[in-house]
Amino acid sequence: MPSKLLTDYPWTTGPVIINAPMAGFAGSALAMAVTQAGGIGTIGSADNITALGTDLQAVADAFSSPSSSYLSASTFYQSTGLLPVGVGMLLFLTTIDAVVPVLQPHPPAFLWLFAAPTLSDYAPWATALRAALPQTRIWIQVGSATAATEVARTAAPDVLVIQGSDAGGHGFARGASVISLLPETAVRLAADPSVEQAGTNITLVAAGGIVEGRGAAAALALGAAGVVMGTRFLAANETVVHSTYRAAMLSTSDGALDTARAPVFDELKGPTIWPPLYDGRAIASLSYLDWTNGVDIEVIRQRYAEAATRDNMGFSDRAPVWAGTGVALVNEVQPARDIVRSVREGTKKALRKALEAI
Ligand SMILES: Cc1cc2nc3c(=O)[nH]c(=O)nc-3n(C[C@H](O)[C@H](O)[C@H](O)COP(=O)(O)O)c2cc1C
Repeated sequence: MPSKLLTDYPWTTGPVIINAPMAGFAGSALAMAVTQAGGIGTIGSADNITALGTDLQAVADAFSSPSSSYLSASTFYQSTGLLPVGVGMLLFLTTIDAVVPVLQPHPPAFLWLFAAPTLSDYAPWATALRAALPQTRIWIQVGSATAATEVARTAAPDVLVIQGSDAGGHGFARGASVISLLPETAVRLAADPSVEQAGTNITLVAAGGIVEGRGAAAALALGAAGVVMGTRFLAANETVVHSTYRAAMLSTSDGALDTARAPVFDELKGPTIWPPLYDGRAIASLSYLDWTNGVDIEVIRQRYAEAATRDNMGFSDRAPVWAGTGVALVNEVQPARDIVRSVREGTKKALRKALEAI
């Protein structure tokens, strides 16, 4: 059965590739390039509502222009009034009242909700957003089957992003690789009578550790309707990334040893502001090594603060360089369009090869 994403987001070409809404990194340039290439582009947003407004305006301008080269995405925009991109929001950093006035003039095709302080926070957000933006779909990112079923029951999202623990950036502190998480979640959702009663028909997409065609093929084999990539798109020309951050990513050679999930990355500027449900995966920096060696957190903070004053902002050694376990397979900076196309083609090739092997 073809992916539901192909009909819900009709400018897309399968297999559907989605860029993660990485706040501070994924702006309108990346989202538009991914959408234009037949993927699903997203903009990441944290607490800078003005920047979000500017990004939404840029997308609206690009897709409403009669000379636009974004043909089928433009048709979608002009016929639905929805921007052919999604917007990610980190719920612990913002409020419904702050975001709705910015979203209403340019409603996106979907909102991607993540990082609510507790799972019960998603339902009031989903209700308020549906009332304010009735055509905009709701995606929610979770990292356990239990969270997926609770959120499915209470918030009835259109899409659940199943984020495995290999993911770069923030995710559930207690998690599992997407390889078991996605099928387990599908089984749990199908078996849960209260999810069925909520009348939901939820599409699952996979995130975490996927950077090229082989990983994307695996995600499709697991039952995902689409594939989310964050780390791979950090190496897109259109992403906003400090050059030293990018150099640190490109210099990795072992995703297992060169990255780590740890709370220390959120403790460098002072006590973490993240809710306890979450921690993050980043390059195993000197800050991380100090932490594993039992160095006092105040000393680690002091060393970070000194490094952060340098031109490279400490990305060469002490600042968090958020990246997933797939980072060692990311070896070049490319236009987002080329990433989408090569992963799409690589996925088909990997699936054909897998079939030949049986
Ligand atoms: C630099 C970076 C920033 C991220 N920022 C966000 C964010 O703002 N909101 C969000 O929902 N997820 C965020 N994520 C997590 C992604 O949504 C996604 O789960 C992850 O990138 C997938 O794993 P991968 O990086 O291995 O592809 C971020 C990830 C990275 C690498």
